[in-house]
Amino acid sequence: MEITISVNGTDNTVDVEPRMLLVDVLRTRLGLTGTHIGCDTTSCGVCTVLLDGTPVKSCTLFAVQADGRAVKTVEGLKQNGDLHPIQAAFKEAHGLQCGYCTPAMMLVGSVLIEENPDPSEDDIRWAISGNLCRCTGYINIVKAIRLAAETVAASS
Ligand code: FES
Ligand code: FES
Repeated sequence: MEITISVNGTDNTVDVEPRMLLVDVLRTRLGLTGTHIGCDTTSCGVCTVLLDGTPVKSCTLFAVQADGRAVKTVEGLKQNGDLHPIQAAFKEAHGLQCGYCTPAMMLVGSVLIEENPDPSEDDIRWAISGNLCRCTGYINIVKAIRLAAETVAASS
């Protein structure tokens, strides 16, 4: 099937088998390897992307379900060449170790601070509850998302 997906603001028309998963199209057909694969069974969240602004696990979605829709991956977070505040905050607060969960954590965090500019620790932990991290103990991830919210609030 031929489908067209807007990915990070650019329309991409690709010929896919109906059974192809969105994560595989992103990684192998579009070269966007910032979207990771972990469990492949909807548990770990490392494959999270934004579909029309909502976090979804791209290992659980057929690419054809994204036809005509907008996907944002971690590669699309940068704004005019600058790091998105959530990326800068993860760097500043050292919100990562191996980095495997990080793209998904940043995408989820970016949505949270857009929807809730002053998130509590509980709000942040709830927002990332579908995303597993096996390195950090989550403490610096929570700090990073909080820092990003503060940075955005201070600049607006
Ligand atoms: S790879 Fe998609 S949830 Fe784990
Ligand atoms: S930083 Fe390694 S899994 Fe989260």
